[in-house]
Amino acid sequence: MISASTASQREIQRLGPWFHNLHLPNGLQTAPDHALGDFPATKWQKVQSCIPEQLSGVSVLDIGCNAGFYSFELARRGATVLAIDTDPLYLKQARWAARELGLTASVCFEQASVYQLARSSQCFDLVLFMGVFYHLRHPLLALDIIASKVRRWLVFQTLTAPGMEVSQTPADLPLLAREPLAEPGWPRMAFIEHSLAGDPTNWWALNHAGALAVLRSSGLRVAAQPGHEIYVCEPDAAKDAVSAQLVERELKEIFGS
Ligand SMILES: C[S@@+](CC[C@H](N)C(=O)[O-])C[C@H]1O[C@@H](n2cnc3c(N)ncnc32)[C@H](O)[C@@H]1O
Repeated sequence: MISASTASQREIQRLGPWFHNLHLPNGLQTAPDHALGDFPATKWQKVQSCIPEQLSGVSVLDIGCNAGFYSFELARRGATVLAIDTDPLYLKQARWAARELGLTASVCFEQASVYQLARSSQCFDLVLFMGVFYHLRHPLLALDIIASKVRRWLVFQTLTAPGMEVSQTPADLPLLAREPLAEPGWPRMAFIEHSLAGDPTNWWALNHAGALAVLRSSGLRVAAQPGHEIYVCEPDAAKDAVSAQLVERELKEIFGS
């Protein structure tokens, strides 16, 4: 007779490869030899203190949830989680893991793209947008859509380009004096035409100034930076009115009212 643990190990292998190393109640892990160590537990260590310990009654949207590591952590704190991803294999992993972890009642996994959120009127107290921005061809479109779904907090994590300088950008720049655009602290997004780390879906790398600027421009205020490339944001009541109007107009042009 096959033991429960052997059956679980077989299922882990059958559902692989795993990007999230989930620790299961039976002691097994889904990706114990992950190249980034105990991933994403090490990243969660940095983020978790920025999020309330008690999340009963709090709604969460986890965009690009993968095998559900963050969704499960937030569900354990009492949140109700909608977790979306485009990849059916990751969703299979996540649904199986939810059963193993006994969290099926508080996390709902759906196959959907971030862009589809534009068609929904639902908002969430807490939105996670971690490790997805740079995989998108149209990342600012996604960020603008997401910003309209955030009631209280957005946790944003992205691949960045080196450089922590931040220039004070002027309200306007003369047409024939564009030198500041080449300064290290100018908000910048490097386009990766071919591939990065063997992954052709790594399209963009923001520098730190760029991350701050695109978040601001989407109407978000950075409240904390708990780690490298991680930004905890809140909707900014004092957001730039011109950007807000332009964003609204563009979203209407693309998706209708
Ligand atoms: C690098 S992983 C990040 C996973 C997880 N959020 C984390 O931080 O560990 C990127 C995830 O985004 C998903 N993804 C890629 N494009 C997406 C899209 N347009 N909408 C939703 N998810 C997407 C991928 O399938 C993958 O699970």
